[in-house]
Amino acid sequence: MGGKFYPVKGYIDFLKAASSDIESFWAREASKLEWFKHWDRVLEWEEPFAKWFAGGMLNASYLCVDKHLYSWHKNKVALYWEDEEGHTKALSYFQLYREVNRFASMLRNLGVNKGDRVVLYMPMIPELPIAMLASARIGAIHTVVFSGFSSQALADRINDTSAEILITADFGKRRGRLIPLKEIVDETLKLAPTIKKVVVIRRTKEAINIEDGRDFMYHELIKDAENYVEPEPLESCHPLYILYTSGTTGKPKGVMHSTGGYLVYNYATYKWVFDISDESIHWCTADVGWVTGHSSIVYAPLLHGATVLMFEGTPDYPDPGVWWRIIEKYGVTIFYTSPTAIRMLMRYGEEWLKNYDLSSLKILGSVGEPINPEVWRWYYKNVGGERCPIVDTWWQTETGGIMISPAPGMELIPLKPGSVTLPLPGIDAEVVDEEGKPVSAGIKGYLVIRKPWPGMLMGLYRDPERYREVYWSRFKGMYYTGDYAMKDEEGYFWIFGRADEVIKVAGHRLGTAEIESAVVSAPFVAEAAVIGKPDPIKGEVIVVFVILKEGHKPGDELRGEIIRHVREHIGPIATPDEVHFVAKLPKTRSGKIMRRLLKAVIMDKPIGDITTLEDEASIEEVKSVYEEFKHIMKSRL
Ligand code: PRX
Repeated sequence: MGGKFYPVKGYIDFLKAASSDIESFWAREASKLEWFKHWDRVLEWEEPFAKWFAGGMLNASYLCVDKHLYSWHKNKVALYWEDEEGHTKALSYFQLYREVNRFASMLRNLGVNKGDRVVLYMPMIPELPIAMLASARIGAIHTVVFSGFSSQALADRINDTSAEILITADFGKRRGRLIPLKEIVDETLKLAPTIKKVVVIRRTKEAINIEDGRDFMYHELIKDAENYVEPEPLESCHPLYILYTSGTTGKPKGVMHSTGGYLVYNYATYKWVFDISDESIHWCTADVGWVTGHSSIVYAPLLHGATVLMFEGTPDYPDPGVWWRIIEKYGVTIFYTSPTAIRMLMRYGEEWLKNYDLSSLKILGSVGEPINPEVWRWYYKNVGGERCPIVDTWWQTETGGIMISPAPGMELIPLKPGSVTLPLPGIDAEVVDEEGKPVSAGIKGYLVIRKPWPGMLMGLYRDPERYREVYWSRFKGMYYTGDYAMKDEEGYFWIFGRADEVIKVAGHRLGTAEIESAVVSAPFVAEAAVIGKPDPIKGEVIVVFVILKEGHKPGDELRGEIIRHVREHIGPIATPDEVHFVAKLPKTRSGKIMRRLLKAVIMDKPIGDITTLEDEASIEEVKSVYEEFKHIMKSRL
């Protein structure tokens, strides 16, 4: 691809044409996949519910695996896996096919049927994509729960799906420690009674608790599995998976993705954005537990017959050169990571990169949070050797695939560090004001999508009203993303982060309400308010303001208890950075906590309009508590 950037030429005209007739545009893309039965209608649109490729039948597992058996792909590596201790595995497409079939047969033997939910609470091991593809093969709906979540968060997600089967491993591994996943599952199941059967993948010889009749060992069950299970022809709108994500209330949202639309969308966008081919070695550093992992580790690269690299580890363990070593070792061509990871590695310095040959890289990606221009430049220069375009990809769990991004697989337009550039073809994105009217160039507003697209969520599991309410009621006829954005004079998009009560910690999406309810469940807490505070590495960190119940004394002991509580309820990713004790929280007259004011105080910004504030003394108290905190922090330096 070289290092040249071409002028925008007819690209913008092409984008306009694509989004003016979305049905023929997406039908052309859909015909690139193999369908068991052709669709009857490209789109049935009853706002806000879309049925893409209605009447069509296909199967995700067939497309990601079986299809590759009929070409030279059969004996190429589908999946390389490595862990932080340097253990490795490699599976050819044929071997992946074998494993997926046997796993699917095991699920059948356990009584799993089409439409049943299968909860996957697993570390980053090859069995996770295998379990996803096996579920998809028989039409079961997988719901992966990130293995960094702890028991309460896992229980909430299980209870929403009322799943009966859960797959886990005895342990996860992180920075040389074992994470006791099975033990967390045992705790969880006290709160999630629908689960009848648990399959455990053994990775260690450590003792674990086994409950007879409920817990089964994978290596034993798989002995009775068949080598082949017919891939179930599924309706295009059959749900492929449910993935929970945080919203503005404490209850996570079960984002439901279709089979046909989701696969078509990911197949198309992965070609445009990453120029993926069967020669690509693709490494996305996300965990499979997030949407990035679903689309970018499993479905999109495998649809394309690429080689996927899966790494169970962190960027700086055993040392900050580990990622560069892996790129060199496998000859990675596409590297896709988060701004948090790049900021962290940037802090360790270029020295760590110098020992490694990164010349195999062709395209670099960034996702999950805004990337600062200086971090972008560092990535471009030091990792990409000023040869590789950076695709800063904007998307969400709900969008299923990349929506706004450079698309060097199609046309390499000039890049601007910090901008996600232009919407992909067929995507009608706009920035609007409070009334839903497009704002002029350079003005900040809300990012919306004005036409349906195949990767869009079908809805929220068992909650169509909440789906309508959250995404389609704010602006008439438009999908509300929840993000602030701006377009510049050339139509390039700049994303400024969330406009709602969602925060992004190291690129992980967390709801303030979810963290607040974890804090409030501590028996000595009366009320809590959570906000995100900008952080130079993680993007944002969590700050908690707490009102204690009478008779409890603020201090380090309770601060530690609160932190422990949040870690136990949600997981280590939600660990608060700061906990402050106050007697009152700033609220409106109707009792809503004004987090905006708390945020202004900790960021030392003007607090703005306080006409709706019930009691001005509350904000004065927050100010003085925070001043004292800053003073103490300074004195510790
Ligand atoms: O705020 C945006 C931010 O991440 C949110 C979606 O989070 P999640 O559903 O966890 O999916 C993340 C990975 C697809 C968005 O609403 N976001 C995502 N990508 C970018 C981004 N912010 C700025 N630039 C991006 N490239």
